[in-house]
Amino acid sequence: MGSGERGGGALVVCLGQVVTDHTFRVDEVELAPSKVTARGYSMSVGGMAANAAIAVARLGGRAVFWGRVGRDEAGEELRQALEDEGVDTTGLVMAEGARTPLSAVIVDKRGERSIVTYRGERLPADPSALPLDRLAEAGSLLCDPRWPEAAEAAFAAARARGLPGVLDAEKSEERVLRALVPLADHAIFAKTGLTIFAPGVPPAEGLARALEAGPLRMAAVTLGERGVLWRAPGMKGISTRPAFPVEATNTTGAGDVFHGAYALAVAEGQEVERALRFASAAGALRARDGRTPDRAELEALLAGDTDRPLVRARRKD
Ligand SMILES: Nc1ncnc2c1ncn2[C@@H]1O[C@H](COP(=O)(O)OP(=O)(O)OP(=O)(O)O)[C@@H](O)[C@H]1O
Ligand SMILES: [Mg+2]
Repeated sequence: MGSGERGGGALVVCLGQVVTDHTFRVDEVELAPSKVTARGYSMSVGGMAANAAIAVARLGGRAVFWGRVGRDEAGEELRQALEDEGVDTTGLVMAEGARTPLSAVIVDKRGERSIVTYRGERLPADPSALPLDRLAEAGSLLCDPRWPEAAEAAFAAARARGLPGVLDAEKSEERVLRALVPLADHAIFAKTGLTIFAPGVPPAEGLARALEAGPLRMAAVTLGERGVLWRAPGMKGISTRPAFPVEATNTTGAGDVFHGAYALAVAEGQEVERALRFASAAGALRARDGRTPDRAELEALLAGDTDRPLVRARRKD
């Protein structure tokens, strides 16, 4: 049983990637062929929409995850790990004969990560088994670009219901971003995603092009510790939402947690600026601690303790 039956918070459907993250801690990421001994290793749930769903649940919302894995050991472990986090996985497709995605995540001593992702094999593209009716209970829909056929179907169904759609416009094939951006209401790009969507132009222009592509309420790009640039229709120029200053220990998934928190804020009825601040706090805490914060930790940061030095948390691994 997922948290859909347990909590009373706003419900967010998160659709897209779930992978097993194999995280190696090293001092430096070596270039060229090399041998490096890891100082630490851990295995956990990863993937944009999956991390976002966990963030929704930790932050007091009800999270539903829609995605695909193989009917294999890794797939079953991911399903269980999501359930343990209180995420409803009844919409997780476990496909016979498919292979579950996984990532090698290499985190250096500054907390910066490099990722190699294997996107799995034979994962079914057809989204027709998704329980789109569940959108009736939801306050928002968040999609990443890793199951584009399903994201298109879900965004269309959400729009028909007047349900706000949030896109994690991460690094992806150009045609996928071109198809999905106009279907979303809030398109929040990663830096590389925006470069692929609008090559060769400054971010302000790239975001303007996103707004021209469809009836978006806002378009934004996240820039790690440099915060978020965003704009909305009718707004003159671009606005900045600065990042909360933290000492990062592991930036893996900060963007995913940011998107989950943003989608929850939208589901709770928060306006864009407030939602961006809420999401920035969530992303900063994730970068600081290498784990997704709960609501109390996030509210403490929002309550204005930002001048207090944010002490480095003890590492988990
Ligand atoms: N080191 C940091 N310090 C403070 N805030 C951060 C830091 N890293 C990330 N954040 C917050 O999280 C948001 C998203 O991070 P980022 O831009 O790195 O996402 P991303 O590039 O999509 O990466 P990923 O999805 O792999 O986590 C940032 O805009 C910022 O608000
Ligand atoms: Mg990201």
